[in-house]
Amino acid sequence: AAGTVSIGIDDIELATSHHVVRLDDFAEANGTDPNKFRLGLGQDEFSFPAPDEDVVTMAAAAAAPIIQRSGSDGIRTMLFATESGIDQSKAAGMAVHSLLDLPSQMRVVEVKEACYSATAALQAAVGIVTRSPGQRVLVIASDVARYALDSPGEPTQGAGAVAMLVSADPKLLEIEPVSGLNSADVDDFWRPNDSTTAIVDGALSVTAYLDALTGAWTDLAAQGGPAIAEIDRVLYHQPFTKMAKKAQVHLAGLTGEDLDTEIVAGVSGAGAAAASPGPAAAHSAAATDSATAGASDNSVATGPRDTALATSTLYNRRLGNSYTASLYAGLCSLLDHDDDLAGKRIGLFSYGSGSVGEFFTARVVPGYEQHSHRQSVTEALDARVPLSIDAYRALHAAELSSAEDVTTPKVTAGPFRFAGIRGGARHYERA
Ligand code: HMG
Repeated sequence: AAGTVSIGIDDIELATSHHVVRLDDFAEANGTDPNKFRLGLGQDEFSFPAPDEDVVTMAAAAAAPIIQRSGSDGIRTMLFATESGIDQSKAAGMAVHSLLDLPSQMRVVEVKEACYSATAALQAAVGIVTRSPGQRVLVIASDVARYALDSPGEPTQGAGAVAMLVSADPKLLEIEPVSGLNSADVDDFWRPNDSTTAIVDGALSVTAYLDALTGAWTDLAAQGGPAIAEIDRVLYHQPFTKMAKKAQVHLAGLTGEDLDTEIVAGVSGAGAAAASPGPAAAHSAAATDSATAGASDNSVATGPRDTALATSTLYNRRLGNSYTASLYAGLCSLLDHDDDLAGKRIGLFSYGSGSVGEFFTARVVPGYEQHSHRQSVTEALDARVPLSIDAYRALHAAELSSAEDVTTPKVTAGPFRFAGIRGGARHYERA
């Protein structure tokens, strides 16, 4: 039992980049069938940073509204999870600390283990608040997912940040104490210190992800965690939303439970806003990929149990992979689109290549729906400026060397920007 104090996520915000690449444009330029991305990967678009954006600017943009709402009193720790950090030594959170004028009486550190590390940060934050219930911890997950041009991973790129405030008596989610863990040394995906793009063995990464799910789920049961029937919604790390579907099929196989495996089918271009339907509409109105799921029309009455696979993948299919932030972007999508979550238990599966898997659970606090950010997230996704494929490829290829002083052009419409490099150090400013 957790004792008398409930601890968890009190506030959450999602931010993304200035630009977007539409996978229909990408498909056209590559001569690929667009359904390969929409249905095969479950992705419509990916966010792409402007030259004056990076993990710091997205992180600050995500955390700023949280600090505006509830101030910085009691925040003595910032944990910044990323695998696309900007320095080998200094924590990226230091720049966020400065941009947000946070108090100097704080510890600020960076945490790394591929896409998993935000979950480690969240659990560490719960530990700190358990010890000192008057304190609050700012956890930020921020990443830019970059693969080599013309590689299979390229359409699964993306960018995004999720900031979460962890406190006692949280307004959104109470994190439960039992969790299932799995670590295994595997070379499925990594990024050497001298490379700006990840190296990935795609097929191995998919099986390593599913093996970690098996291991974490088995450990959750061994630790006395809830049975699948006691979990109302399930969220997965989403490198692409079809992966969440694969994971759901896998969990259904592991548990013998009939779980819904439909993700929402893509909608194109300007109509992409329709990929954020109202709460009740998320399932019924949206076209689903029944061609690949093999589901029947009467599944609503008699079919598999709906654990929100479709609802929790709405943002991610427009963001692309946001690595550490991806699972929590899925959480934002769920909280913003499901109005029947009060008191419900959510299972969360976090995966980071390399690899670590963790399956943990949380209870949704009644009243959570008063804190929905659906409108602002949808506006931010819709406001992204599309890049032509030529412009995207030129931006992708542009790399800054720390050896040269540079002033970046002002492009982003976001609240913070990367101003340039001076004396090898990166500088940031309010936009
Ligand atoms: P690929 O070459 O696109 O694979 O690479 P594919 O040719 O097998 O196609 C993918 C799917 O599209 C297949 O469906 C095809 O049938 C389907 P599936 O068999 O998977 O169900 N398809 C179509 N469907 C409809 N209409 C069509 C059509 N054509 C094909 N016309 C791969 C896919 C995932 C390997 C690649 O994108 C990649 O390397 N991605 C990066 C790695 C990755 O995301 N791995 C996921 C697990 S590891 C992880 O999650 C960790 C990570 O986030 C990093 C971290 O932890 O830091 C990546």
